[in-house]
Amino acid sequence: MKILFLDQSGKPGGAELCLIDIAKPYRDRSLVGLFADGGFKTLLQQNQIPVEVLTNQAIQVKKSSGLIQGLKSLRLIIPLIIKVIKRARKYDLIYANTQKALVIGAIASFFARRPLVYHLHDILSKEHFSQTNRRIAVNLANHFASVVIANSQASQTAFVQAGGHANLTTVIYNGFEPEIYQTDESDVRQLQQELGLIGKFVIGHFSRLAPWKGQHILIDALAQCPQQVTVILVGDALFGEQDYVKQLHNQVADLGLENRVKFLGFRSNVPQLMAACDLVAHTSIFAEPFGRVIVEAMLCGTPVVATQAGGAMELIEPGINGFLFPPGDTQELARVINTCLQERHKTTTMANNARKMAIQRFNMTSINRQIAQLLAAKFS
Ligand code: UDP
Ligand code: GLC
Repeated sequence: MKILFLDQSGKPGGAELCLIDIAKPYRDRSLVGLFADGGFKTLLQQNQIPVEVLTNQAIQVKKSSGLIQGLKSLRLIIPLIIKVIKRARKYDLIYANTQKALVIGAIASFFARRPLVYHLHDILSKEHFSQTNRRIAVNLANHFASVVIANSQASQTAFVQAGGHANLTTVIYNGFEPEIYQTDESDVRQLQQELGLIGKFVIGHFSRLAPWKGQHILIDALAQCPQQVTVILVGDALFGEQDYVKQLHNQVADLGLENRVKFLGFRSNVPQLMAACDLVAHTSIFAEPFGRVIVEAMLCGTPVVATQAGGAMELIEPGINGFLFPPGDTQELARVINTCLQERHKTTTMANNARKMAIQRFNMTSINRQIAQLLAAKFS
């Protein structure tokens, strides 16, 4: 099957990293069309996946945008739509991986007469999207998509609650290659040395810096933990959240935590960094659609604590393979951290359970098979 994948982002967020894995088996006969240039293109090229940046014109619609702004941007995207229609005619299927890709993909699907698949990586709730954006996404999916692949039951439920047709949806989780997360002990030790982490209890937060990802919650919790507890924040402000970055630095300074919080920026050696941690914390203040970092921590054998909402609740069985805490509850998060500090043996057992479960449940081979079977059943 020849697939035209579409993604709006030039930067590698979780949805984009997931797309690399999905596009790989189709790389000899497919194209990934992007609506922005950047590091994601480079990653696709490194994976020998054909890629084309289809526009240099940024689409000025945000998750919170209303109808007027949406209509204004329509004029600017006409050349992009024409290009996508032309490309689509050479492929059997359009696969939209993001919301703006859904908008363009739906129009192209109509004019090029090609079926449309929408991979839903978002929770279409009022916390995440304006009502206009939710309506557009759901209506386009209902009218133009033959299949909606939801990245979790939480994303699927929100889609249906927003008016999406349940019979279009199938839940398929992100897949992972377990081998990538098997790290070399000496590499990890060296990293710990370089970062000055030896002898500390290290909590890692792996996420782009954005208010809803809740790095500030972890910093507040850290202030309630013993001196040996240290935090590494891995990730950058990918989508211009510079005010939040400033706010985080001020918070660290106000709490006198400068020696206990390290901002590492975006890193490509996440498995090694996770292996260097005693605990990985996921602290999103709104429901996380899936949460790749949670599964990645599990595959590294590092204990994980996550917000009790959204996809995280499908990944973690509390007390068995990880910890959950209510969104934004810094006291409860601090309590979990202190438990991990004191009950190392119990926590290690949980991390081992998590690793075994994650290898089985999120194995790339079986996830890719699910996608291939779904596409074959619908389109061949
Ligand atoms: N990530 C990375 N380098 C960083 C920070 C994050 O490669 O410095 C990766 C991380 O390993 C994960 C992805 O970015 O695979 C983030 O995906 P997730 O689903 O957790 O959240 P998203 O940012 O997509 O909402
Ligand atoms: C999106 C979501 C994230 C999910 C990723 C991959 O970026 O925010 O929760 O893990 O897509 O599906």
